[in-house]
Amino acid sequence: MKHPVLNEALPLPVLISAVRHGLTWLVLANAVGVLLAVLLLFPMLAQPLGEWTYGRWVMVHMNLELYGWTALPLLGFLFHIYGAGARFSAWARPAVWLWSAALVVGSAGWLSGATSGKLFLDWSEFARVFFVLALTGIWLQLAAAFIANAKVHLHQGSIAFFLKFAGLVVLALVPWGMYRASDPTIYPVFNPDTGGPTGTSQLESTLGVTAIVLLLPLAIASRRMGRRAILVFAWSLLIAESLLCAAMSHADVSHRQPSQYLGLGVVLLWIPIVPRYFSAFSWNANTRLWRLATLGWWAALLLTGWIFFLPGVLDRFKFTDGLVGHSFVAMAGFTSSLIVLVSVQLLGEDGWIFNRLRSFWIWQISVIVYIALMTIAGWAEGTDPAFTIVPGLARNLIYALRLLTGVLMLTASFDWLLDSLTPRSAYGPSRNSFQEAA
Ligand code: HEM
Ligand code: HEM
Repeated sequence: MKHPVLNEALPLPVLISAVRHGLTWLVLANAVGVLLAVLLLFPMLAQPLGEWTYGRWVMVHMNLELYGWTALPLLGFLFHIYGAGARFSAWARPAVWLWSAALVVGSAGWLSGATSGKLFLDWSEFARVFFVLALTGIWLQLAAAFIANAKVHLHQGSIAFFLKFAGLVVLALVPWGMYRASDPTIYPVFNPDTGGPTGTSQLESTLGVTAIVLLLPLAIASRRMGRRAILVFAWSLLIAESLLCAAMSHADVSHRQPSQYLGLGVVLLWIPIVPRYFSAFSWNANTRLWRLATLGWWAALLLTGWIFFLPGVLDRFKFTDGLVGHSFVAMAGFTSSLIVLVSVQLLGEDGWIFNRLRSFWIWQISVIVYIALMTIAGWAEGTDPAFTIVPGLARNLIYALRLLTGVLMLTASFDWLLDSLTPRSAYGPSRNSFQEAA
């Protein structure tokens, strides 16, 4: 299957702009991460920061990593698949700035203590209204682009047309959904029916992530001939697992029940299936490194995420640095690699900015070491909660090494940002869209 017309316009200035903004937020969020790691070692340094306490910086760090780094390249991806960058380019780049402006407003709010109290749904007061208005404006642009490019979308096939239309309908619910979900009085942080996440809820969210992993190649890469069977199989399995999830108990259950941990275990099937699914598509040759990274982190996330849920393991890791390690496998490992993979595929030759071996390996090795350190700290903390609170030799050593890995990650992200701003294309100056877009 070929979807030529929109692709020929690539790389779109809006995509480049979105990647640059995303990288800028990655550098800033990582710098805040380094600040956090420093404060954990030297709490007295928090004094000059006054009311901008550790807890407030944590919210800034997490929200900028999620809504800045991981969201902005995906915004560029949405503009690309709806053709908004090509037909509405005068509006598309201001939309990227609008998104970043919402993050500036949000950060000012988080630092001044305005919070919904909900992780990853932390939009309150003025920032909540601003962000929802920005989301609405961006949706209107996507809808206008979809209508203006209707013929092109139809030309790409009725399934692609339907998926884009369905995507637009789902996206229409996001501004309202975000506004409602950020309300601290609804959808409590702790589920009173269960006292915490269940195998069913973990399976629900994992299947949601799996659907995204299966959809993305359909949108950004063309299918190879004769590989239909794996596509049909993967989507059928997703439907079967969703039915299983619907049949599992939702309330008043715990991770000790075999039906819960065995039910969640079905996610392990995706470890061998997703690489086969990915190989049913033609990827740009320069995506190889990040495809391998994405698939490696995907396997690591599913396996370690499931092991975390097992009785005895979750009991020891709950509320410890072990879960910070898990968040890192998910966000700094898997999600970040997936975002870069999508960006490199869409950027074509300009994807070289992510392909320097030096920054690639500095990032990957630092993330792996960070996760190992947090797993060790979490394991110790599980039986001795004072381990991470009361400074001691082992704890300080682990936290100092974490700081070092953080500085290395910051360096790698800075390298990517610099390359995106002052490109020295390995493919020659004639073909350099980052420069053209500047
Ligand atoms: C991109 C995908 C994922 C993201 C962003 C993610 C993120 C998170 C975050 C932020 C937490 C809370 C950590 C804390 O309380 O400090 C968490 C907890 C957890 N996650 Fe994930 N995760 C992902 C995928 C998975 C998968 C695939 C599994 C299992 C196969 C999994 C299993 C768990 C478990 C067992 C917990 C602990 C829940 C509890 O406190 O009872 N996660 N995850
Ligand atoms: C320079 C690199 C980084 C450093 C030094 C760093 C440091 C930290 C620190 C110190 C915490 C707080 C842990 C605690 O209070 O116990 C944290 C939390 C977190 N960071 Fe980072 N971080 C970095 C990069 C990232 C990246 C790239 C992502 C995602 C793309 C990320 C996502 C998170 C998340 C989701 C949490 C919350 C963890 C939880 O509560 O389970 N961080 N980070």
